[in-house]
Amino acid sequence: MKVRVKVPATTANLGPGFDTIGLALSLHNEFTFFHSPEEVHHDPDNLIYHSAKYIYDRVGAPVDRLQFTVAGEVPMSRGLGSSATCIVGAMVGANELLGRPFSREELLNFATEVEGHPDNIAPALYGGCRISTMEEGRVITHPLDIAPSLHFFVAIPNFPLATSVAREALPKALSYGDAVFNISRMVFLVEGLRLGDFQLVRMGAQDRLHEPYRSKLIRGYGKMASITGELDGVVLISGAGPTLLLIAPDTVEPEAAMELWHKKSQETGASWEIKHLKLDPEGAVVTLDGEGPAARP
Ligand code: HSE
Repeated sequence: MKVRVKVPATTANLGPGFDTIGLALSLHNEFTFFHSPEEVHHDPDNLIYHSAKYIYDRVGAPVDRLQFTVAGEVPMSRGLGSSATCIVGAMVGANELLGRPFSREELLNFATEVEGHPDNIAPALYGGCRISTMEEGRVITHPLDIAPSLHFFVAIPNFPLATSVAREALPKALSYGDAVFNISRMVFLVEGLRLGDFQLVRMGAQDRLHEPYRSKLIRGYGKMASITGELDGVVLISGAGPTLLLIAPDTVEPEAAMELWHKKSQETGASWEIKHLKLDPEGAVVTLDGEGPAARP
């Protein structure tokens, strides 16, 4: 039996929602898992192997014949949740090959344990937009409606930024004032995204927890963010960066926005790929033997 798992890219934080909010985008990685007739040797540090092995070890099954392939569109170390696609894809695939010993909620917890935080994992697994937190070592996640009128664009640069580096750039503590600033912005953002009220989105898309520190690590950030002086929209760092996310209301013409952002990108000294993406509503989807209807894990 071959198990194929298609997992969406994700964009986390959305400005003020550091480690809390994330949404799945219409850009995917596809993984195929099967048992080979012979023993297969993998690099133990390979994230896909490591995550699949986690599931095999939990049920006490031998992992030595597990084989897999990966193909896809989600760039690595760019702030689009590529590691979450690997962890979720591998755990869902392993779970299918082993006869589904674990529920989706259990997979969510296992995957978050490997990733370290749930904000990319939850939307990669469930699709849509998710608010997530940890409570007594368990992930609590809840779907959040996103108004269909909103446009999402990403600008993906040709340089990586390791999440570990982007997390090290953050201060160890923050002031009461900055905490209050972020809490208030997050509430405005969530309500604005739900209603498609762009005045609320604009008020909410401000952050003092990570963007001021990380923007300095992204070459061309200022130029790329300056698009909001010329069109109605907000620019946020996608996850830990360096990809940038532009959210715009439906009054913005997508082709014109892409052209303008592309023009700006040419003045940054780096090369950026601009994409107009949709919200992925499905999350991880399983197909068995390359046939039959797709199923949720
Ligand atoms: N919330 C995480 C961060 C996302 O901003 O570091 C990246 O994995």
